[in-house]
Amino acid sequence: MPHLASDLNSITHVPIAKIPASGIRAFADKIADIPDLIKLTLGEPDLNTPDHVKQAAIQSIQNNESHYSAQKGTPKLRQAISDYLKRKQNLNYQPDQEIIATVGATEALTATMLALFQPGDQIIVPTPAYALYFPLIKFTKAELITINTAKSNFILTPLALSKTLAKYPHAKAIILNYPTNPTGREYTSEVLAQLATIIKKHQIYIISDEIYSELTYDCAHVSIAQYLPEQTLIINGVSKSHAMTGYRIGYIAGPEELISLIAKMHAFMVTAPSNPAQAAAAEALINGDQDPAQSRQIYQKRRDYIVKSLNKMGLKTITSEGAFYVFSKIPAEYGKNDEAFALDLAHKAKVGGTPGSAFGEGGEGYIRFSYAASEANLHTAMTRIKNFLLKKDEKK
Ligand SMILES: Cc1ncc(COP(=O)(O)O)c(C=O)c1O
Repeated sequence: MPHLASDLNSITHVPIAKIPASGIRAFADKIADIPDLIKLTLGEPDLNTPDHVKQAAIQSIQNNESHYSAQKGTPKLRQAISDYLKRKQNLNYQPDQEIIATVGATEALTATMLALFQPGDQIIVPTPAYALYFPLIKFTKAELITINTAKSNFILTPLALSKTLAKYPHAKAIILNYPTNPTGREYTSEVLAQLATIIKKHQIYIISDEIYSELTYDCAHVSIAQYLPEQTLIINGVSKSHAMTGYRIGYIAGPEELISLIAKMHAFMVTAPSNPAQAAAAEALINGDQDPAQSRQIYQKRRDYIVKSLNKMGLKTITSEGAFYVFSKIPAEYGKNDEAFALDLAHKAKVGGTPGSAFGEGGEGYIRFSYAASEANLHTAMTRIKNFLLKKDEKK
């Protein structure tokens, strides 16, 4: 096993070394070896990829689609994305100039931020937020400006946005994510319209991460691009909608001036996504509207069950409208120490949840549970948490 020669050690003193690895992963590793643990930590569907989607990937391999695809993605997939955005959101994007197929939403976010952020740029992020945004902002040496949404039920209010923009009039971008990871909250069209009206008055663009757009339970998803297409980059993909996290297909849609810059970075990073995965994603977007509809029913039932159970046992939990997460307040005796509660829960109740502080300001004192887990596992997990809380109360 090679070890770096000691006189080469200074090679490791590079910016990435100073950026902490994902807090979510670090916590998952801490509890990984606990026997019989029910993991409600996972951020991916537990359902299978639909058969017709799998067949499209198989067919692509059998057709010897083994060469590089067009860098921005196969024409078929880009057309499918364009048609999908028109059908679902009444948005108009030209497949050739305004869409890039990426290696998951992760690459979409990474290529966007590496292409567009510069040292000193101020980037606004309502928090708690998806943890990947933080290291990417740090890596580009941009400045993170957070807006803590905990006091407004984890929704960015127009007032809070106005105040922040008044304080940081030169902010360059705002990253929105709805339905939101980790809280499951979804924005209504009314709030989005109000936010768009404010943003329109500023020279700022929106990176709108809508990866959970197909997983909403009480309302249909609306993209902020409906109000402000000229200032919005949509990030989306098929990972969550069609249970395809391992296929790694996402996309970016937006104004050509931004897309052409991001396309360069995307080409430097990955050249293009793989052909079989693109063929599968195209099939999902062309013929798979019914697939998320089925998943929605399953997730909604689980959400209703877990929200009710957690509230009943005293862990205050807002009914989240989307994604497959709930964000629960931890028992008062733990104060803001969500990691201590999550560790106790993992070791003593054998249920894994993710400490809220991993998602930034406003997440402290909360725990995220994913309900992308079987109903049987959810039932057992709820029983275990209930018994753990009861036992703790008896000891008092
Ligand atoms: C808010 C958010 N954006 C992006 C991603 C990444 O998606 P993908 O698996 O398509 O890279 C995730 C995955 O958990 C997410 O929660």
